[in-house]
Amino acid sequence: MADPEQTISQLHASALGQLELADTIEAVEAVRVDALGRKGKLNEISKEFGKLTPGERKHIGKLLNTVKQDLEARLEARKAALETVALDARLASEWIDLTTPAPGVRPGHLHPVTQVQRELEELFVSLGFAVLDGPEVESEYYNFDALNIPADHPARDMQDTFWLKDGRLLRTHTSPVQVRGLEMLGPPLKMIAPGRVFRNEEVDPSHEHTFYQLEGMMVDRDVSVAHLIYFMKTLLSAIFHREVTVRLRPGFFPFVEPGFELDIQCLICGGTGCPVCKQSGWVELLPCGLVHPSVLRYGGVDPEEWSGFAFGLGLTRLAMMRYAIDDIRLFASGDLRFLKQF
Ligand code: PHE
Repeated sequence: MADPEQTISQLHASALGQLELADTIEAVEAVRVDALGRKGKLNEISKEFGKLTPGERKHIGKLLNTVKQDLEARLEARKAALETVALDARLASEWIDLTTPAPGVRPGHLHPVTQVQRELEELFVSLGFAVLDGPEVESEYYNFDALNIPADHPARDMQDTFWLKDGRLLRTHTSPVQVRGLEMLGPPLKMIAPGRVFRNEEVDPSHEHTFYQLEGMMVDRDVSVAHLIYFMKTLLSAIFHREVTVRLRPGFFPFVEPGFELDIQCLICGGTGCPVCKQSGWVELLPCGLVHPSVLRYGGVDPEEWSGFAFGLGLTRLAMMRYAIDDIRLFASGDLRFLKQF
């Protein structure tokens, strides 16, 4: 056997050198197995003890134990140091700030059409109008007959209708609330009736089968076209907060006489023509007129004594003009990227 004392101090030095380089807990463990393990280098030396004198055995045994204890302590210290570094790194990357306020409920908001509707309701309430509601599933009587549109009248074809099996229908406009309002309130009255209406027609950028209107009616003594124009002007300047170019032309609706179409210059294209205005530069926004005597009679009101005006504002179309939305189908798309903009 070579000088055991020298072998031990060499093994000691080389183990310390390896330990110096070990930068993970696994590497420290490998140094331990290599030096101190059951088949480790220092244990190999004990196997040679038989060849030594009792005096040497005692001396070398003591040295071996000292070296083993020293290595054991240094391995432990190195391991502890590496564990601290690993823990610090984890704490730095995984910390939780318990004082950060919770994100809370993300607030939503009203649909753009509802926003416009609420705004107009407020305006009309301030002008003394009542806000009425009517059924979306309506009778043929209120949707057509009581509005002076008998069964064989071609005007029925103007509004393609969703019929129910029981003979009722999805209202094609908010005008049925005119007669319901006359019956309920009696004259004099000022009312609006915003709501959802349905038409069985092809869907395209400017037509939906489901959309919103806002009906308005005023019945009093001596109501004339002058009153109608005053309220329409008030309405438009409140809606757009700016000058809009309008035109009034005769319009035919069986429930008004005279009847008008109030068009506004298309605010999407500025009047040069686009899909929303069907390339005409104008958008029909406000059909209106003086309430037809027959409609007053259907509502139980004497047309000799009372007269009135009525209008049917396209709420959905108004929202399109207000926000420059060029495709009506976006409103009911449920697309949050669209809705979040309003
Ligand atoms: N109800 C009609 C439509 O939907 C609009 C209208 C309302 C016209 C009131 C005149 C008066 O087309």
